[in-house]
Amino acid sequence: MFHVKQDQAPDAPEQAAAVFGERLPLARRYVELLLDSGVERGLIGPHEAGRVWERHVLNCAVVGELIPQGTRVVDVGSGAGLPGIPLSLARPDLEIVLLEPMARRVEWLAEVAAELGLALQVDRGRAEEPAVRKRWEGTDVVVARAVAPLARLAAWTLPLLRPGGELLAIKGQSAPAEVARDRAAVRAACGGSPRVVQCGVDLLDPPATVVVVPRLSDARPGQRGGPVRSRRAGRRDRERKT
Ligand SMILES: C[S@@+](CC[C@H](N)C(=O)[O-])C[C@H]1O[C@@H](n2cnc3c(N)ncnc32)[C@H](O)[C@@H]1O
Repeated sequence: MFHVKQDQAPDAPEQAAAVFGERLPLARRYVELLLDSGVERGLIGPHEAGRVWERHVLNCAVVGELIPQGTRVVDVGSGAGLPGIPLSLARPDLEIVLLEPMARRVEWLAEVAAELGLALQVDRGRAEEPAVRKRWEGTDVVVARAVAPLARLAAWTLPLLRPGGELLAIKGQSAPAEVARDRAAVRAACGGSPRVVQCGVDLLDPPATVVVVPRLSDARPGQRGGPVRSRRAGRRDRERKT
């Protein structure tokens, strides 16, 4: 089977140094693994080599602009680790979970995380499964790329979030139309008004387009969803109150 060997992996573009800093060598190694065992084991197409940095790795990493320090992030439908692995490489402060139902993908993700020395968790399951909900409920941020249309994605993932937490769905140019189409379904899933934002505007052409959906508080009286804040800030607030 055709796959790109390590010495044929494309060079990192200039912007990669700004995004990954001193962890750029790890990002390079991730690209090599994607294009070698990732292609060999069917996690990514063999024709992605030429655009792997811009379209996949950097496009995912820049979404970190929307994520506060020290938050827990669940990457739903991680596949080959996108966006969770680039986020973990660029933002070691985040507590990242890669959620993926397919066994062979989970196996590859665990191998790659171990080889890169990433302190993330790999979990096998579907976002809508009750056991998965129980494991990850109260999460600050869910990220997802190319998993499902917004309506279905919201129904699967908003229950994983704490009130005030946010779903960040990486979408393409069709994001505004998808938001208009699925607004009512998002509301029915306890989502607030979705907004479309761009990340990496100074780095990527085109930048990443992200639909941001806040999780509203559930109907319990006295409970309100606030903006996403870091776990550390939440802890500080609680300590102040006592
Ligand atoms: C098209 S792939 C995208 C993978 C990766 N996010 C990316 O952007 O390259 C969709 C992934 O979502 C996973 N998936 C599908 N339904 C899911 C669900 N209900 N919960 C979690 N993951 C799911 C699939 O197994 C697959 O790995």
